[in-house]
Amino acid sequence: MMKTYQIAASILSSDLAHLGDQLDLLETAGVDWIHVDVMDGMFVPNITFGPLIVDACRKSSPLPIDVHLMIEKPERYIDQFAVAGANSISVHIEGNPNTYRTIQAIKQHDCKAGIVLNPSTSIHALDSILYDADYVLVMSVNPGYAGQSFIASSVKKIAALKELMSNINCDVPIQVDGGINKDNIKMVKDSGASIFVAASAIFNHPEGVRSGVQALQEALI
Ligand code: DX5
Ligand code: ZN
Repeated sequence: MMKTYQIAASILSSDLAHLGDQLDLLETAGVDWIHVDVMDGMFVPNITFGPLIVDACRKSSPLPIDVHLMIEKPERYIDQFAVAGANSISVHIEGNPNTYRTIQAIKQHDCKAGIVLNPSTSIHALDSILYDADYVLVMSVNPGYAGQSFIASSVKKIAALKELMSNINCDVPIQVDGGINKDNIKMVKDSGASIFVAASAIFNHPEGVRSGVQALQEALI
């Protein structure tokens, strides 16, 4: 049966000293995407990864690599992340006045282009750009850190975005990122999302990565 959802594991909470082993575990557990959270200490307070880690993931795993750019002026780094091996790259609409051009730059590399909305950004910020996106990422926490609590109003926001899309005949997959766990993932799916990013629920599961992924998969059925 065709899967109607995808799980993207954010390596933000992985054991980076053993990244290759962690990626193997994700693959055998049935994760669909590797999600790489890129933070610059400016757009968000935290600093994390650059293209080098994408290159390392590319060399260690056949899974698609999804790069989430939480950086100022993301257009400066599209080429580097694409060349390093990204399969999809998402950019925030906040503070990015040239989103259309940035999306085109992503697509020129044969990467999927995603647009990200922070929790406080209205879905109507997407009105003029929705047709050009390959997916929309709805943040369900304020970006910057793993391990935060899911913002409950995200469910209504996703449902409203789904309705907006259906009204204009534009069916773009919705990805959700932040505080996703086995207890809320089904509700988020039912609201209209189909791609689920998770860090803590996978890497901090008391019985290990495989159990973390399995718990999410089972909750989705
Ligand atoms: C937050 C990142 C998320 C984060 C999710 O800014 O974009 O991808 O890793 O972590 P959890 O699943 O722990 O909320
Ligand atoms: Zn992310």
